[in-house]
Amino acid sequence: MNHRAIVPVQLALTLAFATSLRSEAQTTGAPPQPRPRVTFEAQTLPDNPTEERILAVLDDVFRNQRRGSMSVPPEDGRILRVLAESIGAKHVVEVGTSVGYSALWMTLALVRTGGRLTTYEIDPGRAARARENFARAGVSNIVTLVEGDAHQTITQLKEPVDMVFLDADKEGYIDYLQKLLPLVRPGGLIVAHNMTERMADPRYVTAITTNPALETIFINMTGSGIGITLKKR
Ligand SMILES: C[S@@+](CC[C@H](N)C(=O)[O-])C[C@H]1O[C@@H](n2cnc3c(N)ncnc32)[C@H](O)[C@@H]1O
Repeated sequence: MNHRAIVPVQLALTLAFATSLRSEAQTTGAPPQPRPRVTFEAQTLPDNPTEERILAVLDDVFRNQRRGSMSVPPEDGRILRVLAESIGAKHVVEVGTSVGYSALWMTLALVRTGGRLTTYEIDPGRAARARENFARAGVSNIVTLVEGDAHQTITQLKEPVDMVFLDADKEGYIDYLQKLLPLVRPGGLIVAHNMTERMADPRYVTAITTNPALETIFINMTGSGIGITLKKR
């Protein structure tokens, strides 16, 4: 939509809203009440010490370790948490740990579901930093960090997986999908970061959008772009 088109649209919306208030007042006889204003901004509000501790480390990583870590933005971290917790994930696999920021978001879900995370990182420096962050957050017992090239190391994985989060080499997503999809349980999810025109590998996009066994949606496409693929039951 161009900017000139926005003004008439806003005007039309304002008129429609005023009309709805007037008709409501006509039916109830009450004077129109202004609707309370809200901002559609939400944040994770801790409700126990475990969550508080993980959130404190997330906050610290966000403030002090983001540079060069290529971590997801907090809103994407929250999406990962909601997805993992809502499917009751017992085993999440992440490819591309970096310093553990997105992993920590997913542990917020896993401490509730009684689940665990297996996460893969090729860079030893980032892996070491991630381990420190998991220890500080008190989640080392539910996170296994596998160091090395995930194209090789994920082939060792044999257990069922509830959710995969792909956030490493973009041209590698197709290989990760082929290797991990057989392990994903029916009703499980494959979540892919950076599904934008500029960053996504077209081969991966084709694979997740042309397979009748999968249902894919794309969200946050004006931001970092996230593909959410359901392995149908
Ligand atoms: C975008 S960052 C991950 C950010 C992390 N998911 C977060 O949000 O906190 C991508 C990471 O994938 C790692 N990576 C790239 N290729 C890899 C491979 N073949 N195997 C394992 N890790 C890889 C990089 O070293 C980098 O740390």
